[in-house]
Amino acid sequence: MLETRGLTANYGQFRALFGVDITVAVGECVAIIGANGAGKSTLMRSITGVIGNAPGMVLHRGEPIGALSSAEIMKRGIAMVPEGRRLFPSLTVEENLLVGAHARKVPGPWNLDAVYDLFPILRERRKRPGTALSGGQQQMVAIGRALMSNPELLLCDEISLGLAPVVIRDIYAALPKIRAGGAAIVLVEQDIGRALAVADRVYCMMEGRVTLAARTAEVTRDDIHSAYFGVAA
Ligand SMILES: Nc1ncnc2c1ncn2[C@@H]1O[C@H](COP(=O)(O)OP(=O)(O)O)[C@@H](O)[C@H]1O
Ligand SMILES: [Mg+2]
Repeated sequence: MLETRGLTANYGQFRALFGVDITVAVGECVAIIGANGAGKSTLMRSITGVIGNAPGMVLHRGEPIGALSSAEIMKRGIAMVPEGRRLFPSLTVEENLLVGAHARKVPGPWNLDAVYDLFPILRERRKRPGTALSGGQQQMVAIGRALMSNPELLLCDEISLGLAPVVIRDIYAALPKIRAGGAAIVLVEQDIGRALAVADRVYCMMEGRVTLAARTAEVTRDDIHSAYFGVAA
């Protein structure tokens, strides 16, 4: 459903991605792991059109989407939960969620009620400013906002970063329900254990390159260690 082919990305003179090839099938959950600075967020930004790329480097359902704007890519059903959550500070929880629904109007399993059933605390807090919530609750709003566009692919960039273990557990508990709604998920994580526990496949990145591509059921700790750090365990 989504494919990158020899994807490169630059920030000015600095090259952040060197020929990245990944695929995501319909309904699949794919983890992308790697140390700080490996290029994970740059890969997400390239897929969602925040960073431009050459024709044919990103394909959605076989069609090149590299020349499209972020808004056009969202309309195709690719939604991102950005690193750092990025809520609209002047909007309430509910208004933040409704922004997601504006991005793409298609029928699907996700609407306000479904998001509130997924994260009941958000129903209680729906009239509060999004930024008045705890970090975990803000992360729930960011996920809910992305779901409101009924995406076929949800890109999650470090959704557990900086959150307490109990909160991470609640957020991870939502992932199977999101998949049950039909969305494929790309999970960018530094928490390798959590990512591997839910993903079908894993890519490891290091210094702008994919150093490992494997089924999670088949991957060993040593494989991960050498792909992550570049040296054998
Ligand atoms: N806006 C930017 N301008 C310049 N360099 C950047 C920018 N964002 C990221 N980088 C650099 O690109 C590389 C990859 O960063 P990033 O994709 O954020 O990694 P990750 O998400 O895996 O931590 C790093 O060397 C980082 O310093
Ligand atoms: Mg990042």
